[in-house]
Amino acid sequence: MQLGLLKALYIDQLTKLYSYSEAENLFYITLQWLEKKSKTAVILGQETLLVDTYQLILKELLEGSPIQYLIHEAPFYGLDFYVDENVLIPRPETEELVHWVITENQNSEYKILDIGTGSGCISIVLAKHLSRATVSACDISLEALSVARKNAQSQGVTIDFFQHNILNGNIGHFDLIVSNPPYISFAEKNTMHQNVLDHEPHLALFVNHDNPLIFYQAITKQAKAYGTTCYFETSEFYKKEFDQWLTSQELQYTWKEDFQGKSRFLKVQF
Ligand SMILES: C[S@@+](CC[C@H](N)C(=O)[O-])C[C@H]1O[C@@H](n2cnc3c(N)ncnc32)[C@H](O)[C@@H]1O
Repeated sequence: MQLGLLKALYIDQLTKLYSYSEAENLFYITLQWLEKKSKTAVILGQETLLVDTYQLILKELLEGSPIQYLIHEAPFYGLDFYVDENVLIPRPETEELVHWVITENQNSEYKILDIGTGSGCISIVLAKHLSRATVSACDISLEALSVARKNAQSQGVTIDFFQHNILNGNIGHFDLIVSNPPYISFAEKNTMHQNVLDHEPHLALFVNHDNPLIFYQAITKQAKAYGTTCYFETSEFYKKEFDQWLTSQELQYTWKEDFQGKSRFLKVQF
């Protein structure tokens, strides 16, 4: 079958769920992953023998599965990460958080901890770019830790991964903490895309508590004992609550906006 016809089929079907450009992009991601070919192959009118596999992937996409879980690959800060349904798919906003940390901590010999590491994307990129630092990472989920270890191994970095429930206290001494913890309240659930809700781990997304700042407060409390600087990703909707809480604690903090001008990143210092 001609790749052009398959592309037309993908677009015809996937525009029921996605915009035209997203549907087209999903076809090109599949093409690249299955056959290591770019859009030129379509322009040149090339044929494929893998029609059944394309159909299978299309069926899963129509059921709302994120393409990253189907191909077990997600890009992050110029690297490819293995992902499965045990870990959050790394988001572009998190690349901005990591970029901030890298820019401000070049040449440091810090002991760094990534809390809620998931796929390991934050800790692995930090280990690659801050070669003099020592990087550790924890998560409550053993399944996530096994994905993170696999990624660290394939990226050739050494990270001390350990299981830890951050709400249970004591993480010990680190110079710098980076965290993108769960921050979505159950009240916000119905504002989210169905394919995120159906496929991404709820343990990574939701705060199972009335207080959506609970993770940040637990981490900050532990960091304070050692004077550890914390870099966080959060939701712009909590800025007011954060400002009130951080001011009441007399903590020094800085907000950083994401590329859309939303206050999404926070640095807390002691
Ligand atoms: C929003 S995801 C972030 C994943 C990854 N760091 C990223 O940025 O793509 C939050 C992570 O926190 C972990 N987590 C949830 N509750 C936790 C807890 N009580 N203690 C430690 N980690 C927790 C989840 O398993 C999940 O991997």
